[in-house]
Amino acid sequence: MLQHYLSAADLPRAEAEALLQRAQTLKAEWNSGEHCRDSNGGLPLQGNTLALVFEKPSLRTRVAFEAGMTQLGGNGSYLSANDIDMGGRESVPDVARNLSRWVQAIAARVFKHATVETLARYATVPVINALSDLEHPCQALADMLTLYERHNHLAGLRLAYVGDGNNVCHSLMLLGATLGLDVAIACPADYRPDPNIITLAQQRATESGGQISLSSSPIEAVAGADAVYTDVWASMGQEHEAARRRPLFQPYQINADLLAHAQEHAVIMHCLPAHRGEEITTDMIDGPRSVVFDQAENRLHVQKALILTLLHK
Ligand code: CP
Ligand code: NVA
Repeated sequence: MLQHYLSAADLPRAEAEALLQRAQTLKAEWNSGEHCRDSNGGLPLQGNTLALVFEKPSLRTRVAFEAGMTQLGGNGSYLSANDIDMGGRESVPDVARNLSRWVQAIAARVFKHATVETLARYATVPVINALSDLEHPCQALADMLTLYERHNHLAGLRLAYVGDGNNVCHSLMLLGATLGLDVAIACPADYRPDPNIITLAQQRATESGGQISLSSSPIEAVAGADAVYTDVWASMGQEHEAARRRPLFQPYQINADLLAHAQEHAVIMHCLPAHRGEEITTDMIDGPRSVVFDQAENRLHVQKALILTLLHK
């Protein structure tokens, strides 16, 4: 049973599928004006608080968690680095032990992945990785729901990820491989995904019948793709490297020429925020094949499903 959600690999296939199914139900209910109810007719998270411990900025993750908690009858309590200065004013274990006395779950956005692991080790409530330098597992759930809505299935879909082998790429590889997708990655040679993540994703792909392939050729990755995904070339915390990275990543830009190698029905994906004119051209991200705002919306529905699952509701 899922105790914490620190990595997209924390979900075995059946649990990932169940969570996505639940997110679809929650989305349909919410869009038809119904509220998700517990067996007594009340909102399922009445009286529950989710602490949002964020060391970095956020629009989507924060609002999706806060709105999601409100919709389920609970609330979110946002704590920025200025508020609690985790590891400075107070140690990470002490933050975890304190929060566990007041709240029912913790979502943490951190620089170092080890920080969410430490929070999970010392918390007595579920901890969710709301983005670390290694993974962005909530994003991957929303991406899989978006792909499912567009293609009506997941196993066998070819998902091309072009750009930096970063946190978003890692979680996509892991969840994609778990769910039987063919994930084709193209990154500059020095910006490939973490070797441990590659090994784990390849194991998952062997179990699911999916595939993981890596190259330095965007055209090779995009060839025949059902979806083409990119993310910023310099992530939060790497801003000082942006100028140096730009020329190296230029051949990895998602533009009309590259998209011509994908299938005609291929959708364009980005976790946002985007740098238009860098990793993706404006005509692509704002064009008819773009599903970026569906991905953003689906953060709400999958994160609601995730909290309900972690709290056994
Ligand atoms: N995609 C995503 O996580 O967006 P935020 O950084 O705004 O939360
Ligand atoms: N890779 C990006 C994702 C932002 C949602 C970052 O870590 O900044």
